[in-house]
Amino acid sequence: MKGIILAGGTGSRMYPCTKVTNKHLLPVYNKPMIYYPIKTLADAGVKDILIVSGPGHAGDFLNLLGSGKEFGVDLAYDIQEEAGGIAQALNVGRKFVGEDKVIVILGDNIFEDDIFQFVQEFEKQESGARIFLKEVSIESGRRFGCAVVEEDKVVYVEEKPRDPKSNLAITGLYMFDSTVFEKINRQSPSARGELEITDAIDFYVKEGNCKYDIIKGFWSDAGTFESLFKSSKFLIDKDLQSRPTFRQETSS
Ligand code: DAU
Repeated sequence: MKGIILAGGTGSRMYPCTKVTNKHLLPVYNKPMIYYPIKTLADAGVKDILIVSGPGHAGDFLNLLGSGKEFGVDLAYDIQEEAGGIAQALNVGRKFVGEDKVIVILGDNIFEDDIFQFVQEFEKQESGARIFLKEVSIESGRRFGCAVVEEDKVVYVEEKPRDPKSNLAITGLYMFDSTVFEKINRQSPSARGELEITDAIDFYVKEGNCKYDIIKGFWSDAGTFESLFKSSKFLIDKDLQSRPTFRQETSS
C-alpha cells in the first residue's frame, strides 16, 4: 500500500499567514501541520509516502522532512502545478502508485485514531474504495463532503451540501484501488473549477464498491484559523493530561 499526502492548494483561507509559506508548514500546537498526517500513515504501517505540494514551497518540505528517516518512512516529493482540486493533486501520484493500492490523506487533517487495522483490512479487500466518516452536527456538515450509508456501503456522496442528507462528514482520509486514476481522468471540474475528490468517490459509489469506517476519536481539518486553533487546543490538552505531574495537580 502506497501513501500520498496532499499539501498543495493556495491556503487562501489562512491569508496573510500563508503569504510566504505553505499552510501545511504552520504550527499545530508544537509541530508543523504536515507532521500529523505523516504520523497517521506511519503508525498505520504505510512506509512509502509521496508528498504532493505546489511549486512555491516544495523545497521547504524537503528541507524540513528530508528522506523521512525521522518518521521511519521513505518520503518522495512531487508537484501539482496549479491548485486544480484534490483529485487533480492525487492524480500527480499516478506513477508512484502504479498498480498498488493507495491511502490518501489531506495535509491539513488531524486524526487521533489509530487506523492500522482498517488499512490491514483494505489490503485484503480485492478492489474498490474505503473512506473514513465522522459524525458531525448537520450545521458543520455543510463545510465537508457528506455521505449516506446503508449497511457496510456508501450509497450517496455530496460535496458541501446546503442541506446535508446525513450527519456523516467525509474526512480527508481515503483508500483506493489503482482504478482511481482512470476515474479521475473521466471527471469534469466542479462549479468551483476543481476536480473534486467526492466526484472520484462517487464513481465507486455508483459501482457499489465503496465501503466506509467511522472515526471515533478527535478529527478536524486545520485549514481555517478556527479549526487550527481547535486542533491545537485538543493536542495541548491531550499532551498535558498525559503528564503525570498534571494529573497529580488536577486531582488534588
Ligand atoms: O477536511 C475534509 C474535507 O476536505 C472533505 O470533507 C471534503 O470533501 C474535501 O473536498 C475537502 O474540503 P476542503 O474544502 O476543506 O478542501 P481544501 O480545498 O481546503 O483542501 C484540503 C487539502 O487538500 C489541503 O490541505 C491541501 C490539499 N489540496 C487542495 C487543493 C484544492 C491540494 O493538495 N491541491 C489542491 O488543488
